[in-house]
Amino acid sequence: MATPKSLSKARITALGTYVPDKILTNEDLERLVDTSDEWIVQRTGIKERHIAAEDEFTSHLCIRAAERLRETYGAALDDVDLIIASTTTPDFSFPTVSCRVQQHFGMERAGAIDLNATCAGFAYALHLANGMISSGLHRKILVVAGETMSKITDYTDRSTCILFGDGAGAVLVEADPELSGGFESVILGTNGAGGIHVYRTGLAEQMDGQPLEGKGKIVQNGREVFKWAVRTVSAGIEQLLEQAELTREDIDWFVPHSANLRMIESICEKADLPLAKTLQSVQDMGNTSSASIPLALQAGVNSGRLKFGDRVLLYGFGSGLTHAGLLLRWDVPDLS
Ligand code: ACO
Repeated sequence: MATPKSLSKARITALGTYVPDKILTNEDLERLVDTSDEWIVQRTGIKERHIAAEDEFTSHLCIRAAERLRETYGAALDDVDLIIASTTTPDFSFPTVSCRVQQHFGMERAGAIDLNATCAGFAYALHLANGMISSGLHRKILVVAGETMSKITDYTDRSTCILFGDGAGAVLVEADPELSGGFESVILGTNGAGGIHVYRTGLAEQMDGQPLEGKGKIVQNGREVFKWAVRTVSAGIEQLLEQAELTREDIDWFVPHSANLRMIESICEKADLPLAKTLQSVQDMGNTSSASIPLALQAGVNSGRLKFGDRVLLYGFGSGLTHAGLLLRWDVPDLS
């Protein structure tokens, strides 16, 4: 690692996403558990989600997303000097997803690291990428966020299996030669005390003398997660705006973690942000954990709503409990 020569500024310059072909609809779930399309849509807004094939893992999704990024970027990714992969569902504990991405693209000069900040992972990865570039240590960072939540979902538990889907997103974060940069403000927070009994997955069958159910699958108290997220994210938005000396009117797009449409509506209401200025991916993709924000950004690009120069407030939150919000300018060139 070279010693930093000069301070720099970072901006996001390219985006690519991928979701698996297979779709799991609410009607499909009606055949698996005691639920209904009406209940799911009314409580979560979710209509369908994409599910990885048996032999398709998080690294495959991330690679496809980065390939799409490369197509729109219009240049090779050989000079990427760091890969940060955000995931809660890696193919292996090791080697990491970022190493598999590095191998696929043959990025000879790149370091590779995985990061797990649960559903807030994409926001944390962007924050780290911005910090690495601003310090002068790196010039071009590939951030990928990919999840195969279906592989840790218990399809006999109707309160969780309706929620989750699979997908991946990738962005390129580069040093800005004009030294302006797109990142404006950040807020990070953690409440570890709200941890394993609220929202977890893992192999431990007991912790601190208490037995734990659901080995290897998602277990959550949906109501507690819901209340915490609405309270925490709305307060975080207030703080972010204050820090940046901006008002709600300065925000073009709010992109929260797409966990549940009803939750997004409650956050908007409490934070006094118009729902119409929200980009989300939950209706067609379910909760894709750390992939949900890039998938929502892609939906904004595809529909022509998210444009070069727009100011975006993105906010991730998830198990831990952990959360992260960022204010940034969207510096990806418009395609048309
Ligand atoms: N179909 C039909 N009935 C159901 C289903 C289902 N799929 N799931 C639960 N129910 C029933 C319950 O059994 C309960 O019945 P009862 O009253 O007879 O006991 C009733 O519906 C109400 O259950 P609640 O859990 O209180 O329902 P709630 O309105 O809270 O909705 C939900 C549940 C959708 C899980 C909601 O709490 C939620 O979305 N929470 C947030 C979860 C989430 O998004 N987590 C991740 C966010 S952060 C991250 O992604 C890391």
